[in-house]
Amino acid sequence: MKILAIETSCDETAAAIVEGGTKILSNVVASSTTMHQKYGGIVPEVAAREQLKCIIPTINEALSGSLTPFDAIAVTVGPGLIGSLLVGVETAKTMAFVLKKPIIPVNHVLAHMYANFIPSGSGITFPAISLVVSGGHTELYLMKSVKNLKWLGGTLDDAAGECFDKTARLLGFGNGGGVAIQNAAQKSPIVHLPRPMIHDDSLNFSFSGLKTAVMREWKKKQDPAGFAYEIQEAITDVLVKKTLRAAKQYDVKSILLSGGVAANMRLREKFMIHNSLFMIHVPPVSLCTDNAVSIASYAYFRGEPVDWKTITAIPDLSVEA
Ligand code: KG4
Ligand code: ZN
Repeated sequence: MKILAIETSCDETAAAIVEGGTKILSNVVASSTTMHQKYGGIVPEVAAREQLKCIIPTINEALSGSLTPFDAIAVTVGPGLIGSLLVGVETAKTMAFVLKKPIIPVNHVLAHMYANFIPSGSGITFPAISLVVSGGHTELYLMKSVKNLKWLGGTLDDAAGECFDKTARLLGFGNGGGVAIQNAAQKSPIVHLPRPMIHDDSLNFSFSGLKTAVMREWKKKQDPAGFAYEIQEAITDVLVKKTLRAAKQYDVKSILLSGGVAANMRLREKFMIHNSLFMIHVPPVSLCTDNAVSIASYAYFRGEPVDWKTITAIPDLSVEA
């Protein structure tokens, strides 16, 4: 089965066609990052207006990569920005109605982890612990099978990506976010930052205290490379420790990483040290950040077609599967 997927939950406009949940036939991502650089962050109205312009050309480009027609449409319905979600949702509904194709609503956060199933399931053995770590979410799941998900814990305040983004701004990296911190990081003994909740027994996270500590220490000494190093160490230490705790607690065979922060090279490196104990899976960088391929893959493995009339955008859609 070939699925055309549409993703517009934040500032990306993406469309892809994926066959059998694992084979990418086309993959197009348009981002309005340069617009947002100009305005100092994501402005929801600006994002939605850009997406309105991009959505048809993006879908057209994705369709031209496929030689045969698709069988169903998958679309992100939430969580995300209301204006942005509506662009994708209304386009998908119109296509489903006009082309008489089944339509599958998709949860953006859950979909991130399905980037790990490309190509051909990547030999994942279950049970697995899945860490989804993005700009808006830091969530841990137990995955007993490709369909069976259980939410174990998440952030109590800021997401890890949000912490990267906010501290990057403070360090003078504009909207460069986690990538800017990764590129600037250089070991220096200047600052020590806390690893919030690292010794806590729960599988929850907290990153707002780390951001506050950066603000406090930055007033004393301003060393962008040293701070970048220590911020990256602190965030990745917590993510690795908590994920390993979950993996041991549930006696799993594999660990799956996904979401924009899983693109971080230091995080990948720290997880790979444990590759003999657990099979560590991480998608290519382009499938960690927002894309429509993982939306199609999720729809194939776990989605349910519904009547197009019942689909709406749900900005605060729960991620507790
Ligand atoms: O999954 P994503 O593209 O969008 C959301 O669903 O939020 O994740 C975006 C987040 C941003 O916070 C960005 O700073 C972070 O992923 N990110 C990174 C890296 N690349 C993207 N964080 C750390 N290191 C990276 N290399
Ligand atoms: Zn995302």
